[in-house]
Amino acid sequence: MSEITEILHTFNKQFNAYLETCFPLPEGAEKRVVEAMHYAVMNGGKRLRPFLLCECASLFNVPYDVSFPAAASLEMLHSYSLVHDDLPAMDNDDLRRGKPTCHKQFDEATAILVGDGLLTYAFDFLAKAQNIRPEIRLALLQLLSDAAGAFGGMVAGQTLDLYATPSGNSVDDEKIIARLEEMKTGRLLRYACEAGAVLGQAPLDLRYHLVAYSRKIGQAFQIADDILDRKGNQEIVGKTLHKDESQHKFTYVAYYGVESAQMLAHKLVQEAEAELDFLAGKTENLHLIAQYIIKRNR
Ligand code: IPE
Ligand code: IPE
Ligand code: MG
Ligand code: MG
Ligand code: MG
Repeated sequence: MSEITEILHTFNKQFNAYLETCFPLPEGAEKRVVEAMHYAVMNGGKRLRPFLLCECASLFNVPYDVSFPAAASLEMLHSYSLVHDDLPAMDNDDLRRGKPTCHKQFDEATAILVGDGLLTYAFDFLAKAQNIRPEIRLALLQLLSDAAGAFGGMVAGQTLDLYATPSGNSVDDEKIIARLEEMKTGRLLRYACEAGAVLGQAPLDLRYHLVAYSRKIGQAFQIADDILDRKGNQEIVGKTLHKDESQHKFTYVAYYGVESAQMLAHKLVQEAEAELDFLAGKTENLHLIAQYIIKRNR
């Protein structure tokens, strides 16, 4: 195992044990939706967003376990986005994190409710996180709703992913792709880093450097995801491959090819790492995670 996969493995063991406690099963027929929510969250995600949140907060002396409630809320929201992304009306995927997608394992109506349930629970869980001071909690709730929503957030990005059409002009197309990726993927990764800074009550200038770092890795992350769709190993990636091509997705890889997409991702990671120079403290893991984002095989 590489250093970063070992670090993530150790983090995931602790964090997954915490997440496991977040889904008390109700009695009666409504139990089904909570079982399916549990399935969609506890099914082997890489937990990169929680890790980023905890790492960024730890730069400002917040221990990992103190960040866990905010990190869990983010992972719930991210998992909802995957469940809905996989629905037949969206990407129509059968495989997620190496297992049947939620609507395959349960059914489509349940998967829609799982998304609704996880999205709502993410905010409920954060709003009730007693270990976070009320004014910090409110700031996080505002940032998360902005990052996830339809006004420049993840939902807006997913809408572009489905409905944006190429302009025919390569300069404009590149801008559309960057905006699409920034919103659909970048905003939640940015929230992860910014939430860490807010939890740690970081000075504004340092918070902005973390945001700049997160925006670069966010774009690199989606490019790496699109390269894995084209060139990954399905067993390891845990998702059906070659979907982007068959569904004519508007990606860098589709427009500029794997090689220039790789070069761009590499440049973005270098730029992201340069932002870390402005931060004092232990940024090694943030360097490693930035590099991992484009080297990963899943
Ligand atoms: C997949 O995200 C969806 C995208 C935003 C590209 P991840 O690759 O982080 O998925 P998990 O959580 O590890 O399954
Ligand atoms: C999805 O992007 C981003 C989300 C907001 C869920 P993709 O459609 O490329 O993600 P995968 O490849 O299915 O994980
Ligand atoms: Mg999609
Ligand atoms: Mg998809
Ligand atoms: Mg993809």
